[in-house]
Amino acid sequence: PFPTLNRLRQTTPIRYDETRQCWDIFGYQEIMQILKAPECFSSVVPGKFENSLSLPESILELDPPQHTKLRKIAGKAFAPAALSQLEAKIASIANELIDRVVQRGEMDFVADFANPLPVIVISEMLGVEQNDRALFKHWSDTMVKSPADASPESLERLHTEQLQARRELEAYFQKVIELRRSDPQEDLISQIVHAEVDGETLTFNQIVEFCILLLVAGNETTTNLFGNFVRLLTERSELQPAVSGNPERLKTMIEETLRFYSPVQALLRYTKQDIDLQGCHLKKDDVLVLWLTSANRDPAVFDRPDELDIDRSPNPHVAFGFGIHFCLGAMLSRMEAQIALDIVMRRLCNIRLAPGAALTPIPSTFFFGLQALPIEFD
Ligand code: HEM
Repeated sequence: PFPTLNRLRQTTPIRYDETRQCWDIFGYQEIMQILKAPECFSSVVPGKFENSLSLPESILELDPPQHTKLRKIAGKAFAPAALSQLEAKIASIANELIDRVVQRGEMDFVADFANPLPVIVISEMLGVEQNDRALFKHWSDTMVKSPADASPESLERLHTEQLQARRELEAYFQKVIELRRSDPQEDLISQIVHAEVDGETLTFNQIVEFCILLLVAGNETTTNLFGNFVRLLTERSELQPAVSGNPERLKTMIEETLRFYSPVQALLRYTKQDIDLQGCHLKKDDVLVLWLTSANRDPAVFDRPDELDIDRSPNPHVAFGFGIHFCLGAMLSRMEAQIALDIVMRRLCNIRLAPGAALTPIPSTFFFGLQALPIEFD
């Protein structure tokens, strides 16, 4: 998509698309201007656009002041002190996943590593019982699945599947929330159930939607970051000796992967009132598509934006968004990537694409990643 986005950004940093009936925003500065003004550009999804994946009571789809209150509660669970307890666990999960494949000399990096790791980590954080993990993974995968094709039948089938998964997840969390109300444990659900802001606790629906959001927002994205990183290692094999065993380089390469192959391609916002933006007249309830992938390659901000520079610094990419909705899981996914990809690079040498493997992108407008990544290694 990158040459097209580059061309559109140069010619029309903001344009209205009659067919899709939305505004496309391609420029870095324009996107920042919108993300900095939630009072004009709302995250609340207008009723007519709600679907089986909508989470109208979650922080992602709320504006201040409701957003501010929920973010305060949720922020505690993702604070550095809470996360540092997960370090050893992440390393042991990553090592276990590599143990399973290391003798084979080949693997599908997406199915065997990038996909399972974030789900196991979030299950661990939430306090999902070991016995329920497989079920939990199934719901989580279904919630973020894309349709097989764009036919109305495929869309309808997926919609039914996702509604079913959502109902089962809600029933599951209902059970766990009740258990944790009377018998709190050392986990994220207990923390959210008992959290108070201004003397109020969260409602049942708010807790359930928050848990579902963590699955939807956290898993596919981190999976794609891991997959996109290893894809770059296969495309640029000379990087492997430069990064392996070098935590500082690994850190800057993870940031550059987030910029170069951003896991979230675009965000949505809705105008709260008629407003003029860079000479364009936007009406109340217009839909805006903010192309993060384009902002992250804007030459006004990044030198040689279409070149991968693993030492790029500073690297003010917007892969995690910006402003009040800045990704709550940014620190967690950076930590997961730093620990897990270090293990991958130390244990697998000379990583290369399996002969004949085709790189099929996931069929999604909003996520950027691969369906499968068959690799070989020594
Ligand atoms: C929000 C990207 C991982 C939880 C966001 C936003 C982006 C993003 C762009 C802003 C949405 C908006 O402004 O509308 C990513 C990427 C990730 C990642 C690229 C991985 C590489 C995670 C993880 C979690 C998570 C691991 C949690 C387990 C959230 C939540 C929000 C959010 C709860 C909503 C925050 C709010 O509305 O205040 N993420 N995310 N994310 N992310 Fe992430």
